[in-house]
Amino acid sequence: TKRIGVLTAGGDCPGLNAVIRGVVKSANTHGYEVVGFLKGYEGLVDPVSYVPLTAKNTAGILQQGGTILGSTNKGRFAATVGVNDRLELDPELVAGVKTTMEQLNICGLVCVGGDGSLAVSQQFHEQGIPVVGVPKTIDNDLSSTAFTFGFFSAVFCATDALDRLHTTAASHERVMVLEVMGRHAGWIALYAGIAGGGDVILIPEISWSFESVCQAVLAREQQGKKFTLIVVAEGAELPEGGLVTKDAHSLQKQVRLGGIGNVVASEIEKRIGKETRTVVLGHLQRGGSPTTFDRVVATQFGAHAVRLIVEKKFGHMVCYQPPAMESVPIIDAIQLSTVHPMCSAVLAARALGVSFGDNHTE
Ligand code: F6P
Repeated sequence: TKRIGVLTAGGDCPGLNAVIRGVVKSANTHGYEVVGFLKGYEGLVDPVSYVPLTAKNTAGILQQGGTILGSTNKGRFAATVGVNDRLELDPELVAGVKTTMEQLNICGLVCVGGDGSLAVSQQFHEQGIPVVGVPKTIDNDLSSTAFTFGFFSAVFCATDALDRLHTTAASHERVMVLEVMGRHAGWIALYAGIAGGGDVILIPEISWSFESVCQAVLAREQQGKKFTLIVVAEGAELPEGGLVTKDAHSLQKQVRLGGIGNVVASEIEKRIGKETRTVVLGHLQRGGSPTTFDRVVATQFGAHAVRLIVEKKFGHMVCYQPPAMESVPIIDAIQLSTVHPMCSAVLAARALGVSFGDNHTE
């Protein structure tokens, strides 16, 4: 029988199981059996580890967080970086993957992964391994796809945190700083900030200053609003100079050790004497059940990936370009997509009086 392989690589993300289920069900419809490789790409090579996936053993996983196949973030496949930071896979690994594919009679491999993991898929494609990609990241920072599954689940988690912080901030007249994920992009901070009624949103794409952040807090005080909610993306760059606490170097170190959220909070307290608390939301954002939207996107990604294999459109990644599911060559798809400072979400937030910690005035 013809077989399709599927694996999940990189950090986990709500909706991975929905993709796996989508692959299995639609592959069966097209007459294929499915094999799931364990722990990302690692399962493809010595010791090869996989499980047959059926409608029966994937029943009930749609709403489960995590991935039933497990994942590896930095394994043997990420280890070899050649000239110009270009990933170069060890030829022995590539040969091992080809042998596994032949022995298990796999005619196409669905790799679900983020930018790093999809770079491995691109290498597979260049080496003649029939592969298709499915984009995965809660950060929503992959180009070519309007949204990645997992993003809105993370935003939901961050919004819920803001709702909870709102009441305690108001009761104690405090500043609450919520640090959310987003290493390179501020999508989660921006969307959760809007959905949760944040007053200040700090993201890597808009340079900000402590002066402006403190001004925003004080302006609210003057309006009789004695509390402030600040959302900061973990990757928000620390502003240059003008730091009260310490020199820039030790502040950078503090960010590395305790996260940007803690630094923002302590700097605000030092500057304006306002009681401030921090919450670092961390991996809570990656856990739990996917939201309805993420289930719909993930399921369609799974089904569309199988379609690409049926059509032998290897080296492509599925993508969501509303209202359609499309595909793009993986090589074009793994560019970073960040928040445009003039995008409609930023403009709407500004129009509502949200500060981005810059000196922008409406
Ligand atoms: O890429 C997604 C992400 O959630 C980032 O925002 C975060 O920095 C990272 O994963 C953390 O991943 P891990 O702790 O698994 O290395």
